[in-house]
Amino acid sequence: MIHYQENEKYFHLQSEHSSYLLRILPSGHLAHVYYGSKIASVESIDKIEIRHHIEVGSQVVYDAADKTFSLNNAQLEISTYGKGDFRDPMLHFRLADGTRVTDFHYASHEILANKPHFEGLPETSASENSPCETLKIVMEDAIVGIAVDLYYSIFPAIDVIARRCVIRNGSSPILIEKAMSMNLDFPDHDFQLLSLDGAWIRERHLHSRPLTFGITKIDSKRGVSSSDHNPFLALKRLHTDEEVGECYGFSLLYSGNFEATAEVNPHSLLRILLGINSFDFYWNLSPGEAFVTPEAVLTYSDQGLTRMSQNLHELVKGHIIPSQWRDKDRPILVNNWEATYFDFTEAKLLRLARTAKKLGIELFVLDDGWFGKRNDDNSSLGDWTVNRQKLPSGIAGLAEKIHRIGLDFGLWVEPEMVNPDSDLYRAHPDWAIQLPNRKPSLGRNQLILDLTRPEVGDHLFKMLSELFSSAKISYVKWDMNRSFSDVFSGSLEPKRQGEFFHRYVLGLYSLLERLTARYPEILFESCASGGNRFDLGMLYYMPQTWTSDDTDGIERLFIQYGTSMAYPPSTMGAHVSAVPNMQTLRNTPLETRFNTAIFGLLGYELDLTHCTAFEKNVIKKQIAFYKEHRHLLQFGRFTRLKNPFDGNQCIWMSSSEKGDEALVGVYQLMAKPNGPAEKIPVRGMDPGLHYRVQNRRQYFNLRTFGDLVRHALPIRLSANGTLFNALSNHYLMANETDDLPMEGDLLNRFGFVPKQKFIGSGYTDQIRLMGDFGSRVYHIRAERKLGV
Ligand code: GLA
Repeated sequence: MIHYQENEKYFHLQSEHSSYLLRILPSGHLAHVYYGSKIASVESIDKIEIRHHIEVGSQVVYDAADKTFSLNNAQLEISTYGKGDFRDPMLHFRLADGTRVTDFHYASHEILANKPHFEGLPETSASENSPCETLKIVMEDAIVGIAVDLYYSIFPAIDVIARRCVIRNGSSPILIEKAMSMNLDFPDHDFQLLSLDGAWIRERHLHSRPLTFGITKIDSKRGVSSSDHNPFLALKRLHTDEEVGECYGFSLLYSGNFEATAEVNPHSLLRILLGINSFDFYWNLSPGEAFVTPEAVLTYSDQGLTRMSQNLHELVKGHIIPSQWRDKDRPILVNNWEATYFDFTEAKLLRLARTAKKLGIELFVLDDGWFGKRNDDNSSLGDWTVNRQKLPSGIAGLAEKIHRIGLDFGLWVEPEMVNPDSDLYRAHPDWAIQLPNRKPSLGRNQLILDLTRPEVGDHLFKMLSELFSSAKISYVKWDMNRSFSDVFSGSLEPKRQGEFFHRYVLGLYSLLERLTARYPEILFESCASGGNRFDLGMLYYMPQTWTSDDTDGIERLFIQYGTSMAYPPSTMGAHVSAVPNMQTLRNTPLETRFNTAIFGLLGYELDLTHCTAFEKNVIKKQIAFYKEHRHLLQFGRFTRLKNPFDGNQCIWMSSSEKGDEALVGVYQLMAKPNGPAEKIPVRGMDPGLHYRVQNRRQYFNLRTFGDLVRHALPIRLSANGTLFNALSNHYLMANETDDLPMEGDLLNRFGFVPKQKFIGSGYTDQIRLMGDFGSRVYHIRAERKLGV
């Protein structure tokens, strides 16, 4: 609900659990007053405004008529350079006469019953059962003739506010040097800042730091949102944890260079800014033109970080991804990349597909290497014609054969790129982003196509439309394997080169808009060397993202845990791959690789034809399990219970909306001999229901135990003997059995106690063998109402 109080001139944006208050000051500036737990009604708003009563030494007063008012001490909703505010501003302009000071005052406002649509950028949208009101406030600097429209759209049920601003130029040409999507000034800075930082194969690790005086900044200058830092940050109070305490989450719907800053000024006011990176950015705005910033989303939780994340998850699932994929189960796929790399033939792919089909897999994805002369990563990006030596019957023929096997067919493309060794580059060297006077710096031997040029977008649209229409393709993996550097566009005049990065993103979005509108039935998964462009902007077009090129089941715990701060499991591609793992050389057990991947979108990315009979049997059972629980795993309410960054364990769970069912994943890093007693925490169960807790049936290979099998089996076997080898290929040794009838209340408050862990002093079939990197999944299902 949005309410305007005329007397006190304040706006109250109320969601189910939060209130956001802003006020028009007597000076005409728009002040931020409060953001936090819901306030039922506000009568004395002026009493919570932080003000001085005498002039503070060294301050610059806004107006000599009122020496107590300085912009530097105000909490503002929109800030610019000058007039006494010394913090980094939200907006910065260079005006036609060379001056840089602007000053915006309230002009008008409207409360809209819906959410206005802006062409060309990703946006959140209301849905039938979750409507959305919008407050639009027009701020004006009459002296220079610029207006700024501030938009606040509120999603009440999930405590989310979407913000953006639109800069409208009236009179003379201006240069926008900085245009953040939001400015939020808090009255104190007693927060820890959480960010998701990393690198290739180590994306979105969770970091926390206390805020102190000065500026803390995370950003990307890579042209993509990047795995260096995700365009997300959270603020939490010192003692806020997953379940208790105040926190705020901020995210940007944008896939290019971004900037997020937290500035604490000498009076402890905290300013949060989020938007397009102002580094190497400027934008020429002619009279009559408007500049629309990307949308930023904010959420508040007074029930810890898990609730904050759940709000963002619901936003992504219900208000960002394309509507046809909302709540729609995603297929289990096999991807040939880690199975074959570039070295495949049609026969080899079909063998892989046949084996996959037998195991229950639903979609076959052909990755890199199917086009041009692409036998390694040196050439052919740009030449999207099939390599007939590898695939004599073409993509259409292969897709047809895959369908006959009973699988859907998906294809990898990397359309934004070009190799210097390609026909496309030879025909259009000017389409590649490079400087006129310097040797290009390559990344993975490739250059990026200049999507600021409409003809490049048109070429890609035509080429991809022909490709996608040429065969029965139900899934596309859209890759992007290098970051931008040395940017320049031959098609932009010198004074517009600072517009390059944003124009590229707009060009990309326009291409994606056209393609996804034309092929709504294709499931797109975005990828950028794994998670180098995992952001809400890409999710607006493509409902899922390849989370990381790191497929190690243990490293993935960290990556998926961090990612879950801002993104739900239904956005995270997660595959079981071979061991030793190609990125870590780690030997994570097959069951743990699966147990980690199922809290995401399951796939297999290994040569299944090389798997032993034991492995195939296990995988078949895994897939059957995933199919049975797929909806809960992909779309359930995700709750973090134990943080792997803090210790030796990771625990998370996915529960149904109604609370009648859940799956809990429990993972251990290193085995600790004779360790502490264990109980597994659970949350969100219905206190009025009685449940049954059972562990998933998992299987061990006898080889795991080496010579120790002598002690466990009734017959004597040598660990290297033929009989042992034959047995270990076929014998599935099951884990212990947990079967616990329990009340919901007890589960919520105490959790449950799994079987005792192996401690070396003996073994029965009811001992829980975990070992290094061991894991379990527990299924909790309501059986009856309490007392019935
Ligand atoms: C990137 C992707 C991988 C794979 C390769 C193919 O690294 O992240 O999943 O598609 O490209 O070259």
